[in-house]
Amino acid sequence: MRPRGQFWWVAVMAITAVGLVACSPSQPTAAPTATAGATPSSVPTPEPSHDFKPGAAGIGDPYFPAYGNGGYDVASYGIKVKYDPKTDKLSGDVTITAAATQDLSGFNLDLAGLSVRSVTVDDVAATVRRQANELIVTPAKGIASGGTFVTHVVYDGVPKPVKNKYKDLGEGGWFATADGAIVLGQPDSAAGWFPVNDHPLDKAVYTIEATVPKGLTAVSNGVLGTTTTTGAWTTWTWSESKPMASYLSTLVIGKFRVTTGTHNGKPVYSAVTTKIAKGAADTSVAHTVKIADFLETQFGPYPFDSYGGVVISDDRIHFALETQSRPVYSAGFFRNGVNDTVIAHELAHQWFGDAIAVHHWEDIWLNEGFARYAEWLWNDHAGVQSAQKSFNLTYQRSTPDVWKTPPGRPGAAHIFDATVYDRGAMTLHALRKAVGDRAFFAIVKAWTTEKTGGNGTTAEFVALAEKESGKQLDSLFDAWLYGKTKPKL
Ligand code: TRP
Ligand code: ZN
Repeated sequence: MRPRGQFWWVAVMAITAVGLVACSPSQPTAAPTATAGATPSSVPTPEPSHDFKPGAAGIGDPYFPAYGNGGYDVASYGIKVKYDPKTDKLSGDVTITAAATQDLSGFNLDLAGLSVRSVTVDDVAATVRRQANELIVTPAKGIASGGTFVTHVVYDGVPKPVKNKYKDLGEGGWFATADGAIVLGQPDSAAGWFPVNDHPLDKAVYTIEATVPKGLTAVSNGVLGTTTTTGAWTTWTWSESKPMASYLSTLVIGKFRVTTGTHNGKPVYSAVTTKIAKGAADTSVAHTVKIADFLETQFGPYPFDSYGGVVISDDRIHFALETQSRPVYSAGFFRNGVNDTVIAHELAHQWFGDAIAVHHWEDIWLNEGFARYAEWLWNDHAGVQSAQKSFNLTYQRSTPDVWKTPPGRPGAAHIFDATVYDRGAMTLHALRKAVGDRAFFAIVKAWTTEKTGGNGTTAEFVALAEKESGKQLDSLFDAWLYGKTKPKL
């Protein structure tokens, strides 16, 4: 999608969808004859011809070919889920507004497990088949390229965490807990709980409405709207109005110590699980706004409409994840006291990873390299250790696999290996040394200015670095991103 967020836009597109824009961009956009009074002609405008075909079953990511789908571009998801922790049952009702990017006879959505009860496209029942994690939707009639269409899926079942189908990258998606759930994962997550074009290339805006037993908190992305209690159930409504990659959606249900406020005119909403005593986790998450303000001086304006963080405690989740506007942190990060470094890491992802998402998963160093480098910048700023010292120690201590595995082309099985984080950050520091501080931060800010709201590739970043610095940087990036030996200093 492209940045937007007004309902009028959807309304206008819905009208054009049934009008004559139903022709592909290559066809002449002649006005309908009835209104073409200024250019009278005895030749009626031909009906646009169509070649309706199914959209591709994958978006074209070489590492994970089945992820995402082709033929359409989602503008918004309206997700309504009801979850009962007593039975683990989820009932979902999802409305997807999308634009066709080809003449479509049908299209796929990604959904793992769960039972689909009904699918409509523009309010007309569609036929639906399941094939592994693909939901294959055939609407009653074809959808013309450029037209907006609304898909409505009703489904239910007991959601289970999703395993990466290609490599051992752990599990993601819906993790049921004793009294709630934790929903997160990378790259696998969204398809585990709602039908979705599950790849960062198709960003969209989201409304997430979670209905949970009264007394529990349901935290998600973006800004909290209403919370409405009816009988024994409370509905929490969250909205993320900036384009979001599907894996950055989250939902955490349980008992939390909630802190709210405003910062720079934007709402702050943080939640720490009551499974841990009040202490270092609460203090660390409270540093979110201070650290975000520092990162803003390095990277450019904070890209989202809200701030916050969620601390969870669960045997199965030992990571933190940069879920958009509200990262989720495993309580383990705060076991030994306040940990600003992990906060700086996940907040840096709000610029690198979230506002600018990977184009393909191969570009992951643009997320993790920047996030690790932000740790170094924060620790430098905080007087803990200079960025140069962090570089030196990382350079000295990195194990052979870091030098063998190129972060710019890690391979699907290695997208979260140390090389992506450490050598990614070392690449950025090497760039900074080569072009100087002024040019380096100009590159970083030009990158966020140009790319926020969309996706970025490594080639685009390299080209921008060369343009902004006026230097030829091929050999630097070849050595740091693509080489298989330890670069000489
Ligand atoms: N992107 C996360 C980070 O570095 C790490 C991560 C990878 C992760 N896969 C995950 C976290 C799955 C949670 C679940 O901050
Ligand atoms: Zn990270």
